[in-house]
Amino acid sequence: MDFSTQTSSPEKIKTAALVVGVFADGVLTPAADVVDRALAGAIRDVVKNEFKARPGETLVLRSLTGVAAQRVVLVGLGPQPGYTAKVLASSYRAALQAVVATGAAEAVLTLAALPIEGCDVRTRARLLAIAAGDVTYRYDGTFGKREPVVRPKLARLLLAVDKADAKEAEAGMAQGRAIANGMTVAKDLGNLPPNICTPTYLGETAKKMARALKFRVEVLDRRQIEALNMGSFLSVARSSYEAPKFIVMRYEGSKLAPPVKAPRGKAAAAAAAAAGGAAGSANAPVVLVGKGITFDSGGISIKPASGMDEMKYDMCGAASVFGTLSAVAEMQLPIDVIGVVPACENMPSGRANKPGDVVTSMSGQTIEILNTDAEGRLILCDALTYVERFKPSCVIDIATLTGACVTALGHVNTGLFTKDDALADALTAVSRQAMDPVWRLPMDDEYQDQLKSNFADMANIGGPPGGAVTAACFLSRYAKAYRWAHLDIAGTAWRSGKDKGATGRPVPLLSQFLISLV
Ligand code: BES
Ligand code: MN
Ligand code: ZN
Repeated sequence: MDFSTQTSSPEKIKTAALVVGVFADGVLTPAADVVDRALAGAIRDVVKNEFKARPGETLVLRSLTGVAAQRVVLVGLGPQPGYTAKVLASSYRAALQAVVATGAAEAVLTLAALPIEGCDVRTRARLLAIAAGDVTYRYDGTFGKREPVVRPKLARLLLAVDKADAKEAEAGMAQGRAIANGMTVAKDLGNLPPNICTPTYLGETAKKMARALKFRVEVLDRRQIEALNMGSFLSVARSSYEAPKFIVMRYEGSKLAPPVKAPRGKAAAAAAAAAGGAAGSANAPVVLVGKGITFDSGGISIKPASGMDEMKYDMCGAASVFGTLSAVAEMQLPIDVIGVVPACENMPSGRANKPGDVVTSMSGQTIEILNTDAEGRLILCDALTYVERFKPSCVIDIATLTGACVTALGHVNTGLFTKDDALADALTAVSRQAMDPVWRLPMDDEYQDQLKSNFADMANIGGPPGGAVTAACFLSRYAKAYRWAHLDIAGTAWRSGKDKGATGRPVPLLSQFLISLV
């Protein structure tokens, strides 16, 4: 997708589709007003009758005389009081969907010109590019040749803004494009079937990405993983025919010339303060650790058959690390980011973990495996120990970890767990800005008692009460050497049902967090 700005008056812009916003109760945005005058009141006419301007409602006007555009797409913004960045983002999506449905190859959007408190032009432009990437995404990895996937024709988007805002808008769109591309990486990996997207495939993808985007990569095989004494990760990996991989991607932006700094907002300053400071030097890397279970059958504690196909998405944490590294490299952010992915399958077999088995993690702590389906924490704990060597400024792990998190937060918020208030506040603030929300859940020490084992340092499950919390508590025992936060994306990484597919979350959140550190 090609993004640029347009500073002419809307009625004069020659384009396939001109998008203008309309508030409820007949209140036109300035752009809609100008276009309405040029159309001799045609917009006011439809607003009186068929178009209520509910948020996300759209109406395409065609065969118009008086404006240079082939079509005018009206998009509802709801009542003017209460118009927020959230409404803007959803109006972008609705408008873009309407434009895609017309088959237009180009569109001009006037929506970003409206100021919103706490959401500058750069942010508004970034949200547009992200929405455009999201709306035009199509999975086409595994269809036969006979019925090719229909790709949206939309290839060029122009944001109509004041001249004074053009530079900022372009910077925002460039960031948004990088983030959208990162989301595409994450969605494609998530959507691929588990017989194709294996640990080996993830390793090869990391190498390809590293070559294209010029970062360093290491893919450790079973022997090297054994040499590191990752007994917990290996206990899960051993169950499967597929070879495990331990992937380490290193983007070293600190070696690039620092770009001109933009003035930072409040959320960005908080994030920078949170991630820097206490834990090491200015150049200490941010480490992202992603759960890479390419298929989770549950193992010997096998899952029910219905819906088990969705456990191909159990590598979406890993996919978000790939996607975020892609975005960061495309943006050329002047910071160091390391992505770490333990990747394997969780299968039932003669070599699989059994309930009652005790394994020794890389940290030396022993774990009694009471449920082989709580495998995510078993592979992540060794990765969390491994990353100590990087002396990170902070570590964020991302995992489709628990069904309990879906029960707690549904499909709207990602679960955020950390004892570090500053890091929690920073991640929460950027998540709102990125429209990729998180909700913090507690981590009181009292929950740790549920992990007590009679036969090892800890059990791998804490029973039904607070299942997402005790999973986070388990991980916390391996993340004591640095500042750390855990994101449980079990409810937000993919959609089920008719629209089944990966969402690309939380690439926007992670990218925005890293942007905020610059
Ligand atoms: N990958 C699953 C978590 C999951 C379940 C994500 C459903 C999305 C939807 C994870 O490995 C798992 O199986 N967790 C168990 C933990 C339990 C055995 C303590 C769960 O949530 O049921
Ligand atoms: Mn599981
Ligand atoms: Zn799992």
